[in-house]
Amino acid sequence: MRHSSKLPTIKTTIFTTIGNLARKHKATDLSQGFPNFEADPKLIQLVSKAMQNGHNQYAPMQGHYGLREAISGKILKAHNYEYHPETEITITVGATQAIFTAITAFIHTGDEVVVIKPAYDCYEPAIMLNGGIPVYLQLPARDYSIDWEAFQKLITAKTKMVILNTPHNPTGRILSNEDMLKLEAILRPTNILLLSDEVYEHIIFDSKDHESACRYPDLAKRSFICASFGKTFHVTGWKVGYCVAPEPLMAEFRKVHQFAVFCVDHPVQRALAEYLQDKNHYLHLNDFYQKKRDLFLEGLDASRFTFKPSAGTYFQLLDYSAITDEHDEDFAKRLITDYKLASIPISSFNSKKENNMMLRFCFAKKRETLEEALDILNRI
Ligand SMILES: Cc1ncc(COP(=O)(O)O)c(C=O)c1O
Repeated sequence: MRHSSKLPTIKTTIFTTIGNLARKHKATDLSQGFPNFEADPKLIQLVSKAMQNGHNQYAPMQGHYGLREAISGKILKAHNYEYHPETEITITVGATQAIFTAITAFIHTGDEVVVIKPAYDCYEPAIMLNGGIPVYLQLPARDYSIDWEAFQKLITAKTKMVILNTPHNPTGRILSNEDMLKLEAILRPTNILLLSDEVYEHIIFDSKDHESACRYPDLAKRSFICASFGKTFHVTGWKVGYCVAPEPLMAEFRKVHQFAVFCVDHPVQRALAEYLQDKNHYLHLNDFYQKKRDLFLEGLDASRFTFKPSAGTYFQLLDYSAITDEHDEDFAKRLITDYKLASIPISSFNSKKENNMMLRFCFAKKRETLEEALDILNRI
C-alpha cells in the first residue's frame, strides 16, 4: 500500500535512540526526564482508595470538578489570578495532550507559530500536522537568553501563536519578570495566542519565583498554560496534566479535547484532588530538587566538564568543549558505549541541529545513581 507521510521529516526521537543504547550497554541513565525513585505512598494509596470507592467509569469531559477547584485555588494563591473551574480549566492526558489540543484548536493551514529553540520536541509535529509553519528563534549557545528584538522581527501578519517554556527544558533557564514584560509589550497590539508550557513550575531554585504567564494581564487573556502532575509528583507514567485558559479560548480547546480523548483517568484525578488539599506536597519540591542539583554540581569539582547552574527543571547542561570537539550526538553515544553513562545531546533540540557542545543530564535520580554518574564524569 502507498501512502504519503504527514510528517516526512520526523524521525524516531533522540530519547528512544539514546534510551535503547543505554539499556543495551547497561549504562547509568541520566538521559530521559523522569525520576528513578517512587512517588509518595500516600498518593498511591489515594488512587487505590478511589478505585475501591468505585470511581472506575468515565470522569466528566472537563475533568473531576474537585480537582479543577483545587487547581484554581493553587493558581490563585501562587499568582493571584483566578481561573474558573467550570469554564477555564481542563484536565488532560499529561501536558503533551494539552499542548497538542491547544495547537489543533487554533492553528489553520499557513499560520505561523514562533518556537524558541532549543525546544522540547512535541511542539513542531503538532504545528505541522495542522498545516502550520514553525518559525524559529534560535538562542545563542551557553547564554540561552532571549533577544526580544530578534523575537519581534519574527512576528508577521501570519503569526498566530507563540510557544514559551519556563522553566526551560533543556537549558534549565527561567524567564524573568523583565522577559515577561517585554513579551507582553510585543504581543499587546496583536491577536497572537501564547502557549505557555509551565510543566516545571514547581522546580525553581535559589529562591527565584516562577513567572507564570497568568501574572501578566495582557498575557493571561491570550494564554493557554499547560502543566503536568507527572512532573510535579514523580508520576510521569500516569500522564495526567491540565490546561488553563480564559473562557472563550477554553471553549474552543474543549471542542477538540472531547473528541481526542473525551476524558482522563478517573481514579487518578480523584486521588490528586485529595492530595492537593495539602499544599506542602508541591511547596517542598524546589528544595528537594535543589539539593539534588547541588549534590550533582558539587560532585563535579574534579571534572573537566563546565556548567552554569540550572535555575529550574531537573536538568543540568554540561559543556564538554574542554574535553573533545566531537559532535554532541557522537560524544553522547561514546559516553554510553565506552563509559556506560547516558545523557541527551542538545543538538536534537536546536533548529538546525546546531552542535553547542553541551549534554543534558537529568538529576531527578536517587543519590546512588547520581554518585555513580559523578564517579564516571570525573574520570572523563
Ligand atoms: C518542557 C516539557 N513540556 C511537556 C512535557 C510533557 O509532559 P507530560 O509528560 O505531562 O505530557 C515535558 C516532558 O518531558 C517537557 O519537558
